[in-house]
Amino acid sequence: MSPQSAKKKTAPKQTRASAAKKATKKRPAAKRRAALTPENNIKPKLYASLVVQLLSLLKGEHDFIANAANFSALLFNSLPNVNWAGFYFLQGDELVLGPFQGNPACVRIPMGKGVCGVAAQQCETIIVPNVHEFPGHIACDVASNAEIVVPLFDGERLLGVLDLDSPTIGRFDDQDAEGLNELVTVFVAHEEGLGL
Ligand code: SME
Repeated sequence: MSPQSAKKKTAPKQTRASAAKKATKKRPAAKRRAALTPENNIKPKLYASLVVQLLSLLKGEHDFIANAANFSALLFNSLPNVNWAGFYFLQGDELVLGPFQGNPACVRIPMGKGVCGVAAQQCETIIVPNVHEFPGHIACDVASNAEIVVPLFDGERLLGVLDLDSPTIGRFDDQDAEGLNELVTVFVAHEEGLGL
């Protein structure tokens, strides 16, 4: 073999720039999405970590609005593909906007109206894979395509709802429902301890 042909077979040396580019190359979108599938347990681990973080945020703090605000910020910044996270609290027969993260939203939602009003009326978590197919959905952010609403209870008494929106159709599933229900239970238990 001539020295030239031997040289041809040698792999080209990686420059520092190309090595760095390779190291930071993003995984394809399909694989990034796969990281959130139920099979790999990512969501339960994420929610377990959020419970720990929420408890730490609540520890020693007695202000309900401040705690609800920090809770919504924790969710908004920790959960992937979420464009709105916040609360509506029950006042009389309507839900009124509470602390949230995301675009400005409608302030008052009558019971039974929109996803929030239906979840509050039925006292049930509602997962909406595609909000455009939910009759009476109230559009606050044009970017929202999926939604999950979790009611908050003090014993039997309905306090309001936690609402999360996502631009990704089908973003929320039973694991999110379970994780968010655990988080609101921790939140309400803390506030009950404060004499809510
Ligand atoms: N989409 C909700 C209204 C609240 S916003 O999403 C923040 C609903 O239909 O009740």
